[in-house]
Amino acid sequence: MAKFTHHIFVCCNRRAPDHSRGCCDPEGSEQLRECFKHEVKRRGLDPLVRANKAGCLDQCELGATVVIYPQAIWYGGVRKEDVPRIIEETIIGGRVIKELLIPDHLLNTKGGKSLP
Ligand code: FES
Repeated sequence: MAKFTHHIFVCCNRRAPDHSRGCCDPEGSEQLRECFKHEVKRRGLDPLVRANKAGCLDQCELGATVVIYPQAIWYGGVRKEDVPRIIEETIIGGRVIKELLIPDHLLNTKGGKSLP
């Protein structure tokens, strides 16, 4: 069986509205993941590209968070409107979208601040 070329993990974590870190899917609707699934299918990219639901990816303050493996491209602040562009430019075109990229120095920080 062929390997996946891209595995898109979409944070669908939901927390209480008053949680200090917030969350990527406050309504628990999983609409962002559904958009990715729809676009992957519409472009005929399945089964080699797959969009999966993920729990918290620990980049909450920078969400909605999406990570694409095996390329390890981390996107933050992702909205439904960004999905066609991510599929077109990153998945098909192999280009990183700088405006959505979470820079390495902000990964694994709380609130997007550098760790001590
Ligand atoms: S809630 Fe999405 S990264 Fe934590």
